[in-house]
Amino acid sequence: MPRKNIGAKPYIMPMPVMMVSSYGEDGEPCSMVAVWGGITNEKEITITVAAQRHTLKGILARGAFTVSMADVENEAACDYLGITTGNKVADKFEKSGLHATRSEFVDAPIIDELPFAVECRVKSYDEETWRLVGEIVNVSLDERILGEDGKVSFDKFHPLAFDWMNKIYLSIGEKVGDAYRDGLALR
Ligand SMILES: Cc1cc2nc3c(=O)[nH]c(=O)nc-3n(C[C@H](O)[C@H](O)[C@H](O)COP(=O)(O)O)c2cc1C
Repeated sequence: MPRKNIGAKPYIMPMPVMMVSSYGEDGEPCSMVAVWGGITNEKEITITVAAQRHTLKGILARGAFTVSMADVENEAACDYLGITTGNKVADKFEKSGLHATRSEFVDAPIIDELPFAVECRVKSYDEETWRLVGEIVNVSLDERILGEDGKVSFDKFHPLAFDWMNKIYLSIGEKVGDAYRDGLALR
């Protein structure tokens, strides 16, 4: 089949759906969707957060944020947080129907309904590139998504993936192989 060149686009497939959360000036939780980002070092996460985001104000004021992975069960609530801004809707988080509890490690909220959260201290934010870099200080897992071996079980955890081209959320989870092992057959 011939290949098609579609130009320079911000696409990788799939993208993670990260709920970036902080406390606003009023002390209430705020949260937004971000798909432009990922792990950039052993204890580091980098996310492109546009300077005008309400959630960013809280992140910078308190030097902290959390990243919860959006899941199938809470897809509409998560999308709502990505299409509504706290700059205009003060009780946005409450309207989402989600709830939050303060992180034990950083001054930021963890979304109760989302079982996988990464707690971060702000390392840097660049106004020009919009790059927010966080130091990961803890990963908080709801025990309900853990298997008997203590690891996250994708039978129990259903994170969303994002397809920017079609603007759709997808469910992931089926195991198809073993990393660092299946390639050994070709050595
Ligand atoms: C699927 C999706 C992906 C998004 N990815 C990003 C992103 O990577 N960075 C960003 O700054 N905003 C992103 N947004 C937009 C914010 O989530 C959105 O502007 C949100 O309303 C900001 O809320 P706030 O102003 O209350 O913080 C995304 C929104 C959606 C729906």
